[in-house]
Amino acid sequence: MQLKISSTKQKTAESFTNWFVDLIGSSESLHVALSGGSTPKIVFDELASRQLSKSDWEKVHLYWGDERCVPPDDSESNYRMTVEHLLSKIEIPENNIHRIKGEENPVKEAKRYAEVLQKELPKKDGFPRFDLVILGLGDDGHTASIFPHEIDLWNADGLCEVAEHPETGQKRITITGKIINHAANIAFLVTGESKVEKVGEIIDKRGGFESYPATLVQPVNGKLFWFLDEPAATGITDRP
Ligand code: 6PG
Repeated sequence: MQLKISSTKQKTAESFTNWFVDLIGSSESLHVALSGGSTPKIVFDELASRQLSKSDWEKVHLYWGDERCVPPDDSESNYRMTVEHLLSKIEIPENNIHRIKGEENPVKEAKRYAEVLQKELPKKDGFPRFDLVILGLGDDGHTASIFPHEIDLWNADGLCEVAEHPETGQKRITITGKIINHAANIAFLVTGESKVEKVGEIIDKRGGFESYPATLVQPVNGKLFWFLDEPAATGITDRP
């Protein structure tokens, strides 16, 4: 695991973007699962400002690690957030964008999206593999849309499942642990002081860490990066 700690949220976005742009540059093709949340928003703004060429974006295929079950123009939609902050500003082929259809029946859509992943992703050891999965961390220790009360979804058989937000009851579609941990690279993007407790517990392996889905992020054959800002990282005892 590599910790990449920056002083501010904006610097964290820049640090991740530098790393991501290098990864695009050194890859022939790159299949990436995006996350929703507030940190990706500023990362997408930063990425859009780098003005990568059309030929760079032609190599990149975008997927989502989770989506809220709402139409694509809803203010809650992760897809909509990505269009506003990134997709509307870059030259990426339509065919490279593989969105989760939040407007469809959730059970059917989870099944359809699992088929998309099976078909589109490159395989390693016969199993679909993302080159990069970007993840957020919820204040309650959730990641993607796997929340503590449904932590068993992590080990579900399917590549995608239907989840439910613990407070609002909103349905979500989420990828599961099997495909997340099979990725070549996993990057957590976590900023802000509201994350300090969970980040410390997960990285130091203490407190309630075992009950947080984010603790289960453990790549089998890949690399794990935590891009953090200082306010989120101050609780980590075991710092490099
Ligand atoms: C979602 C997310 C979710 C998010 C975390 C962190 O769609 O809700 O994918 O897992 O990443 O809740 O969100 P923040 O970056 O806003 O703290």
